[in-house]
Amino acid sequence: MNHKRVLLIVGGGVAAYKSLELVRLLRKAGVAVRPILTAAGARFVTALSLGALAEDPVRSDLFSLEGEAEMGHIELSRSADLVVVAPATADLMAKAANGLADDLASTTLLATDKPVMMAPAMNVRMWLHAATQRNLATLRGDGVVIVGPDEGAMACGEYGPGRMAEPEAIFGSIMTALRAGRRPLAGRHVLVTAGPTAEPIDPVRVLTNRSSGKQGYAIAAALADLGARVTLVSGPTALATPAGVTRVDVETAQEMEAACRRALPADAAVCVAAVSDWRPDAVFPVKLKKGHAGPPAVTLVENPDILAGLSSAGPCRPTLVVGFAAETNDLEANARAKLARKGCDWIVANDVGEGGSGAGIMGGDENEVLLLDAAGAQRWPRAGKAEVARRLAERIAAALIPGESA
Ligand code: C5P
Repeated sequence: MNHKRVLLIVGGGVAAYKSLELVRLLRKAGVAVRPILTAAGARFVTALSLGALAEDPVRSDLFSLEGEAEMGHIELSRSADLVVVAPATADLMAKAANGLADDLASTTLLATDKPVMMAPAMNVRMWLHAATQRNLATLRGDGVVIVGPDEGAMACGEYGPGRMAEPEAIFGSIMTALRAGRRPLAGRHVLVTAGPTAEPIDPVRVLTNRSSGKQGYAIAAALADLGARVTLVSGPTALATPAGVTRVDVETAQEMEAACRRALPADAAVCVAAVSDWRPDAVFPVKLKKGHAGPPAVTLVENPDILAGLSSAGPCRPTLVVGFAAETNDLEANARAKLARKGCDWIVANDVGEGGSGAGIMGGDENEVLLLDAAGAQRWPRAGKAEVARRLAERIAAALIPGESA
């Protein structure tokens, strides 16, 4: 990303402070940031902070001779790969939707020939107002990518949609936009398992695990975005198949194992599924009834370990095998033991214990993971599951393709 450039317009909203963090994330990823601060934006963050973090002078004035001599607003509007407005206020959105150009930010938005992304931030009533929703539809129709807003408590004391998306989420969308068209995994096949398994006890009852499948589906989508051919072997979930992904639906661990075997050869396998460790040794052919004999005894037998099986598949072993670990205690030690026991190359571990970061991870939209390989461990900051997936997909590409970097 060292040659990529973002023109960041910071509008006037309390959320402007979050844009400073966004600048930090972009700079850390090697993306150059050229900041524009609106007059209203300057009431919330200073040009000094923004310019220092961006390592580039802040532009604010349409008629500044110095600025114009250095780079006119037309040139400025085309000097980046992507124009990002964060926070995008109701006013900035209205101006951009209607082609008004009365300051540097709005003039730049009208003059640019580059893709535009906006992260709206405003009071919930302003967001829901018919005028803003009209402008939003116009902007989307013009090809503007909209990130957020999130729903939640707002600085003004109200609750609802209008909060600017978190910097990590905006960062993730920016990286996706900057990478659009990059397909380092083209020609590679990746197998992903996701969701729970369901082991029948009788025709109406199953033994299962809590798993929404969201993280596994996000990983399948992120790998497909990078050009991989993806086979997603999925237990029962309520999710839609990601674009460009081949999905094979299964119910039991044995069916999942057979589907995985059929999907080989693969360059990489990512086992995200929450596979039931056991299954009833026999399925009762009719529905069990309450009776005088008391509850029925169900004998469990062990299920095949799909991850361990793929890791020791001899000549059919994918080059890279990645396992997941949900732990309630001693995260790193347990994950390291699992890496050795399963024979895989990486373990992506998360703490699902009440005391850890786990609250809200199972079934939620965020994840906080520790990535372990033979060389060491790396803790990733809490982020949306799509962002965790994007990062993991980039790492997989870097591991499989010489010369690719995550
Ligand atoms: O042993 P544990 O279930 O904690 O290991 C989790 C990892 O192993 C996950 O990657 C999961 O998809 C995989 N697994 C599997 N088959 C099993 C059990 C777990 O592939 N029977």
